[in-house]
Amino acid sequence: MNGLRNKVALITGASSGIGRATALRLAARGVEVALAARTSSALDGVVREIEGLGGRALAVPTDVTDPEQCRVAVERTVEHFGRLDLLVCSAGVSMRSLFEKTDLAAISDLMQVNFFGTLYPTYHAIPHVKQSRGSLVAVSSLVGKRGTPTYAVYAASKFAVQGLYESLRLELAEHGVHVGTVSPGFVETPLRDRVLSHEGKPWTTPVSIPFRVRPVEACVDRIVELIEGRQAEALVPGFVGPLLALDAILGPWLGDRFLARHFRKHPLPDQA
Ligand SMILES: NC(=O)c1ccc[n+]([C@@H]2O[C@H](COP(=O)([O-])OP(=O)(O)OC[C@H]3O[C@@H](n4cnc5c(N)ncnc54)[C@H](OP(=O)(O)O)[C@@H]3O)[C@@H](O)[C@H]2O)c1
Repeated sequence: MNGLRNKVALITGASSGIGRATALRLAARGVEVALAARTSSALDGVVREIEGLGGRALAVPTDVTDPEQCRVAVERTVEHFGRLDLLVCSAGVSMRSLFEKTDLAAISDLMQVNFFGTLYPTYHAIPHVKQSRGSLVAVSSLVGKRGTPTYAVYAASKFAVQGLYESLRLELAEHGVHVGTVSPGFVETPLRDRVLSHEGKPWTTPVSIPFRVRPVEACVDRIVELIEGRQAEALVPGFVGPLLALDAILGPWLGDRFLARHFRKHPLPDQA
């Protein structure tokens, strides 16, 4: 996208964490932003923050698991701002559990938010971003790039997002639409305190994590770079790129041992 000023973005998951921080950053760069999530009061707070800084924002309360609400969110954005240049799908929930213990209904619920909650807004945004030759961006995860212990369900949802977006990148290239994924490791957001257990409810004991947690602004830096550079992929932190390449060359044995060792030292609350 050449210059962000006066572009129009719809951001899901904009009430919190990465989505909220991305909305604030894009608004500061002159983007008009529609903010989607379920919690209206939190969206209204972000709208006030953006308007207080002289930007333009619209709250579009949306449950991304409902295709009709996603259609309405896209249509309301276009009605209000006159166009849609950019969709950022950040709505998501995290889960850490042993797959064999995990409740099937909890798995289905997570797929609804992380996979279909990305697919539905994307589906409805496509005609508009084709018209504006704009961007579709999904927030995936590093565990959407590489299988990781205790992340089977969450990883599956993010691998699904990667597959959808990588294929769309090819399908939409001839229409001038940029399609990119951002895959962060651990990021400092409220998500860290609401990671779901095998029962589909947040763990009541904090879940210990084996790697460094990155500031949310570092993640937003990469999202903005990806949008501006019309890049296919951004990994956070960037040094994981060469590690994934090494994994692909050597085969999984080294990466498997590395991950198994680190995660063994940080068991889930019900394994400790
Ligand atoms: N933080 C990390 O360490 C990390 C690492 C890798 C990837 N990610 C990914 O980054 C994305 C953002 O995560 P975050 O860290 O910013 O988490 P967060 O602070 O918990 O924010 C999650 C957002 O998703 C929204 N959401 C959840 N369910 C929804 C639904 N059914 N309909 C509409 N919105 C829904 C929440 O809003 P409401 O509750 O108001 O609906 C909230 O705005 C997620 O896709 C996550 O998987 C995060």
